[in-house]
Amino acid sequence: MDQLSSTETLSLAAITLASGTVLWNAVREGEPLISSIAMSGLAFTSAFCLIRWLGSVFMRAGLKGKDMSKPKKLEIPETMGAVCAVVYLITMILFVPLPFYYDIVAATSGGGNKDVVLELERIETGRLLHKFPHSKLGLYLSGILSLQSVVILGIGDDLFDIRWRHKLFIPAIAAIPILVVYSVDFGVTQVVVPRPLQQYLGQLVDLGWLYYAYMAAIAIFCPNSINILAGINGIEVSQSIVIAVLIVINDSLYLLPGSEYPHPATDSHLFSIFFLLPFIGVSLALWWHNWYPARVFVGDTYCYFAGMVFAIVGILGHFSKTLLLLFIPQIFNFLYSAPQLFHLIPCPRHRLPRYNARTNQLEPSVTLWERPPSKVIAILLKLMSRIRLVKIEYNSKGDIVETSNLTILNLWLVWFGPMKEDRLAIGILVMQVLVGVGGLFIRHRLALWIFQQDNRAYSILP
Ligand code: UD1
Ligand code: MG
Repeated sequence: MDQLSSTETLSLAAITLASGTVLWNAVREGEPLISSIAMSGLAFTSAFCLIRWLGSVFMRAGLKGKDMSKPKKLEIPETMGAVCAVVYLITMILFVPLPFYYDIVAATSGGGNKDVVLELERIETGRLLHKFPHSKLGLYLSGILSLQSVVILGIGDDLFDIRWRHKLFIPAIAAIPILVVYSVDFGVTQVVVPRPLQQYLGQLVDLGWLYYAYMAAIAIFCPNSINILAGINGIEVSQSIVIAVLIVINDSLYLLPGSEYPHPATDSHLFSIFFLLPFIGVSLALWWHNWYPARVFVGDTYCYFAGMVFAIVGILGHFSKTLLLLFIPQIFNFLYSAPQLFHLIPCPRHRLPRYNARTNQLEPSVTLWERPPSKVIAILLKLMSRIRLVKIEYNSKGDIVETSNLTILNLWLVWFGPMKEDRLAIGILVMQVLVGVGGLFIRHRLALWIFQQDNRAYSILP
């Protein structure tokens, strides 16, 4: 299991060689975007090999889990997201000198650009900091710091199973570095008011500290929402790859030849691409091993890591609303799960679909009601069941004894009937791609109905 096959070795060697050559030339020619693509290729091959080689090491250390939807509930390595996260962080750190090289050299007196002479007075009054885009390096490093914190949380969770009420808020602390840099660098806490409301509120509304609370909420939401849309092979990584690719497509709209330049949002979107390309690289390596039938599990580490990458690019790239459009399935899953998450309805430790060994298919998993639910809950559940949002079993007295667990994976099975694990994953992913592309379409076309302009054409920021 731990060895690479000869085809894999050859393919990986070819990708490594090609990426290495491209990287060598791109660094010499000072092309950070091409360098980033090449480094993502190297991140892919490194993560691929490490995931394969470290599987048994992780198992020995106790990082393993039972694949519950298989006839033989075999144990396989868990927490492989930690391998991805480490490869990703190393790639991001090695990348630092490439886009910032010029700025660093120009800003330090001993560097190569000795022509830049700065008056002592200006250095003392701190204006030097504004003179050079060090702030971008600040953004970048704050992103790495936030990611490191959240990866530690993830590994802690995979090792010790931290309780939900505790781990829910930890990403907010991990987000403090990016929020501080956001405040120093942009400090923009105004939002554009949709057209119909402008006559009452004006064109912009300043949300002040509420805006920071909103961004902290995004940092809490993204990691946790990926972690609860989980439980079948491949779903955590695939949904993250879909979101990442859609954000990269959105970013490219600002960078393609022919788009307005210099556009105020260009830097933010380039920044986002620098964070996402290596993420896609390591995620594809994990996907290869985690897709049905899974050879490894991603662990909570991956879910937190992936969610935080999205939160960082959304917050620092000023496109948190667009980001939320790409999270519509996760938002729905969260709202739908809320009664169980907040214990209005009992929440078993696992809500993943139930495996039926006889048919080799997945069925909706259920919550058993030892005592019938209260009247209000019973009425709500019956209403939901009428619009096919939940499946209910009654006993002979007409009391509710069983309800399907409230996740979109189970809901999909309620709607479309039992199916194989990979078909369920593909169905959810196709839905996610359609919703995501629709979200982007709304963002760039229909948004003009309610907002004055698309920021691709014109920036509202001062
Ligand atoms: C979250 C969900 C839980 C779901 C679990 C599955 C909530 C509140 N929590 O909990 O309902 O059951 O994720 O990941 O919604 N597993 C499989 N096949 C897979 C993936 C996971 O069998 O494809 C099982 C394995 O036994 C694995 C375990 O799920 O060891 C991982 O669960 P964990 O990530 O620790 O669960 P939570 O994130 O706490
Ligand atoms: Mg999990």
